[in-house]
Amino acid sequence: MKTIESLGDLAGKTVLVRSDFNVKVKDGAVAPGNDGRLIAALPTLNKLLDAGAKVVVTAHLGRPKPGDTFTPDPAFTVKPVAARLSELLGKPVAVADDLTGDSAKAVVAALQPGEIALLENVRMDPRETSKVDADREAEADDIIAATGADAFVSDGFGVVHRKQASVYDVAKKVPAAAGDLVFKEVDSLSKATTDPARPYAVVLGGAKVSDKLPLIANLLDKADMILIGGGMMFTFLKAKGLEVGKSLLEEDQVDTVKGYLDTAAAKGVEFVLPVDCVVAPAFDAAPTGVVAADAIPADQMGLDIGPDSAKLFADKLATAKTIAWNGPMGVFENPDYAAGTRDVAQGMIDATAAGAFSVVGGGDSATAVKVLGLDEAGFSHISTGGGASLELLEGKVLPGIDVLS
Ligand code: 3PG
Repeated sequence: MKTIESLGDLAGKTVLVRSDFNVKVKDGAVAPGNDGRLIAALPTLNKLLDAGAKVVVTAHLGRPKPGDTFTPDPAFTVKPVAARLSELLGKPVAVADDLTGDSAKAVVAALQPGEIALLENVRMDPRETSKVDADREAEADDIIAATGADAFVSDGFGVVHRKQASVYDVAKKVPAAAGDLVFKEVDSLSKATTDPARPYAVVLGGAKVSDKLPLIANLLDKADMILIGGGMMFTFLKAKGLEVGKSLLEEDQVDTVKGYLDTAAAKGVEFVLPVDCVVAPAFDAAPTGVVAADAIPADQMGLDIGPDSAKLFADKLATAKTIAWNGPMGVFENPDYAAGTRDVAQGMIDATAAGAFSVVGGGDSATAVKVLGLDEAGFSHISTGGGASLELLEGKVLPGIDVLS
């Protein structure tokens, strides 16, 4: 991947930057504690501004329906992002009312070297996400014409798995490079995916095993240990012949999971499954208690791994030299079911302090680290990308990365 430095002297040049500012907005402002993606974008933006570039940023917020236009829509405007970004940068962020129209052109024309502007939500142009190459290319042409971009810096790691106009197509039309965030993310995640220091342990959680099937299939050739928690653990327990009561179960995946367990045994990959779980009669009910994984009552559902499982997982992680984590161990948003996620994450922090390299996939796992008050600096790397980090761990080639090579 090319770096910003490969773009040469940027003084007075207009640099188009794609960032991932897809954050939670509440009451017209970036929700408190949700500005992590903005903070992660600062090194690249400051580097370009310090180099004297005119910086024009594109970003998306949410998933506006194709065909929505640039009529003011509080649900999709990036204006709250511009306001918070301005605070974080300590300088004004001009904001356009459209992406390639008169407003964008006027805002960019007024920029001086060392100044920054944010264009309106790229996804309000239906061509952004089009599967038709010519549509996306036309949008990319319009963006470049409207901004007069001399170069493109791809720094929205969370969207590099999307073959979209502002991520992929613009990179083919002007000199393009990876921003510092994309570079750091790919570098860190590659340490786990390419020749990891061993033992390599992967902790997987989250609700559905069906979301993680390509990842598990890939890990059967890469990992030494796969630790399973979260809602997906019940499909594994069922595949082992256990009853899971009212717990989340993907019946149609049981055979696939059985196949994974058999393949893992044949390849010497260790699956570590929970030995106990915290149960309740319903998702929003108070916990009844902790039961062994082979004794889940028929009228109860498991909502977190139990303390013995958390200890077992932490003990396994203490032996690992590389750890990747994707997906919480339980319903951590409810304090009654947060202990499993907290204890296993703390196990990763302890293993990191003892010399292991640890990466946290973005999305729910990164949110859990924040919500549970864990020490973010205790991990080697916390990704800003949800789907993008998952696809990298799956071993996929991501279009937004590939195009920069
Ligand atoms: C994310 O929030 O994971 C990224 O911004 C990508 O968003 P998307 O899934 O809507 O493409």
